[in-house]
Amino acid sequence: MLRTLFLAAAGSARLERLVESAPAGKAIVSRFVAGETAADALRTSRELADDGLGISLDYLGGETVTPEQAEAVRDAYVALLAGLRETGLTPAAEVSLKLSALGQRLDEKLAYENARAVCAAAADAGTAVTLDAEDHTTTDATLETLADLRRDFPSTGAVLQAYLRRTEGDCRELATAGSRVRLCKGAYAEPESVAFQSALDVDKSYVRCLNILMSGEGYPMVATHDPRLIAIAEDRARWFDRSTGEYEFQLLYGVRTEEQARLAAGGQSVRVYLPYGSQWYGYLMRRLADRPATLTTLPRSLTRR
Ligand code: FDA
Repeated sequence: MLRTLFLAAAGSARLERLVESAPAGKAIVSRFVAGETAADALRTSRELADDGLGISLDYLGGETVTPEQAEAVRDAYVALLAGLRETGLTPAAEVSLKLSALGQRLDEKLAYENARAVCAAAADAGTAVTLDAEDHTTTDATLETLADLRRDFPSTGAVLQAYLRRTEGDCRELATAGSRVRLCKGAYAEPESVAFQSALDVDKSYVRCLNILMSGEGYPMVATHDPRLIAIAEDRARWFDRSTGEYEFQLLYGVRTEEQARLAAGGQSVRVYLPYGSQWYGYLMRRLADRPATLTTLPRSLTRR
């Protein structure tokens, strides 16, 4: 119920203005977002890298409704990648991209061309790009763009969402040599026709997908904070004889930081998904939808990380 409310709130411009101006909004956001500028992103990336963690940076540029906005997002990523290269943060840091931010809803070709420019900048910087997964209406287009990008930039990664009924099939398609696949549960409000609705069904799908990715030839990126799924992933890695550099765990910045440290201390490869940018509202609402109890722990989150 609360999850549905937060996901609906993600689309409300009125609520967005209210949350952005409230001191508590800024307080919660600083727990989940590096800051508003590329300099903030580079500083936080350095701290994470010094702790032995990988990073995937996500630029929160807001909704893209014009080609000029799409180009501005592209340019922000290209500048960020130059900053990562200059500060020696690659290959520890890669970037995550939403094709909608690069103009997918306006023109798929435009989004592809913008993504190509970011992939080229990433290749120059010695790192890679992962394409985020958005709502199910974009899945086919995103996977087609991925296939096109991978012809010239084979390290470009995909995100698959275990809550979608189609995802086991997509895992089979993508579990091939050189293919980087991030598996997450899924963060959007989706109808029953395309997505499992109960937490148990989503978890069972996650495990089936994990089995396909871990037994396949690609590079699985296990994106979850769920302790049970993390334990199952560790078990499957042993079962399928994968050493620690042959898969990685990914967690969101500010979420289960002790678990991030525990996994890294145990020799696992861990990457932290690190958003930055001024348009953090939609991202924050999706995190609150993941765990509404975050709101009740606000006083604690102000004093502790
Ligand atoms: P779940 O939500 O069931 O949480 C399991 C446990 O983790 C909770 O019981 C709690 O202990 C802890 N936890 C979870 N969220 C927390 C929070 N906010 N604060 C404190 N504790 C928390 N989605 C998508 O649709 N497209 C995408 O491209 C991506 N990309 C992505 C990248 C990475 C690296 C991650 C980790 C996640 C995504 N997601 C995503 C989001 C994903 O789909 C999902 O919404 C969240 O990861 C929450 O699901 P969990 O697997 O963590 O399980």
